[in-house]
Amino acid sequence: VLNLYNVSGHDLWQWWMQAKQGAIAAAVPLVELDWLMQELCGLDRLTLRLETFRHRAHIPLAYSLDDLDRLWASRLRDRTPVQYLAGRVTWRGQALRVSPAVLIPRPETEELIDHVLAAIAVKPGLAYGPWADLGTGSGAIALGLATVLPQATIYAVDTSLAALAIAQGNGQAQGLADRIHYCHGSWFAALPPEALPLSGMVSNPPYIPTDTIPTLQPEVRHHEPHLALDGGPDGLDSLRHLVTTAPTYLKPGGLWLVELMDGQGSAVIDLLERNGHYSNITLYPDLAGRERAVLAYRTGGSPADPVDQMPIE
Ligand SMILES: C[S@@+](CC[C@H](N)C(=O)[O-])C[C@H]1O[C@@H](n2cnc3c(N)ncnc32)[C@H](O)[C@@H]1O
Repeated sequence: VLNLYNVSGHDLWQWWMQAKQGAIAAAVPLVELDWLMQELCGLDRLTLRLETFRHRAHIPLAYSLDDLDRLWASRLRDRTPVQYLAGRVTWRGQALRVSPAVLIPRPETEELIDHVLAAIAVKPGLAYGPWADLGTGSGAIALGLATVLPQATIYAVDTSLAALAIAQGNGQAQGLADRIHYCHGSWFAALPPEALPLSGMVSNPPYIPTDTIPTLQPEVRHHEPHLALDGGPDGLDSLRHLVTTAPTYLKPGGLWLVELMDGQGSAVIDLLERNGHYSNITLYPDLAGRERAVLAYRTGGSPADPVDQMPIE
């Protein structure tokens, strides 16, 4: 981004003070304004805290004060999430581009990658892939998998072409695009034959019950794609599909891991148990103690199966 504007520290400070008043009046957390100042104006947290930028004669900016005004008005009036205003977010330490075409990747989703790492410690053979991220959105999970599974090829699937374009751009920006294949289509059906059978599949599918969507905060319901949110009447449409179809696509002993919302754990465990092709089913809470993920293995795995062993080089 080019810094085309030169703004005096005093003018920027005044803008910040005014924006704070707006935030307080609209009940928008002040940390969001500070985050935006850091992202868009290149000021670090300490500089903001000490207000030292106030005395600088010139601050080169990519945005004019009018641009900042427009963006902040969009936050306060239209309830646009700050991540869409900045066009980026940090997820597992990686800077990802986001737009309203993709769900903003959430911090709690980062924990899925930790569950994969813990599983690999027990079944090292799984690390060699291939793996799939079904419903990739910004491509966050696929990037997380590519980072922790350096030997695996990752297949990132989405029905949204606009989302896939963002995901692919993020893959390129992280230098991981050569190990991630982006596939357009629905769930497993989008995967090419060479992706199969999979060592693991990870998905954060839409899981919010349709009736609940109008009750979500306006930042979510008015700005994030409903294709990423709406899980059908009971929220379980996509999760049910993933339970039913995965056994055809996973290796024996392959890993099945999904994110879900608090209260859906027992329903998903029940679906997996009744399906009959899963074992070692585990429900994981997130750091806040809410039901957040379910992990299972496709049956058929035994200590003699390749997924449990290191491949012979
Ligand atoms: C909750 S978002 C998750 C995005 C991203 N994986 C993350 O964790 O931030 C669900 C994603 O699933 C995609 N999706 C919805 N229906 C799908 C389908 N039938 N096949 C593949 N992807 C689908 C949506 O477009 C959206 O990107």
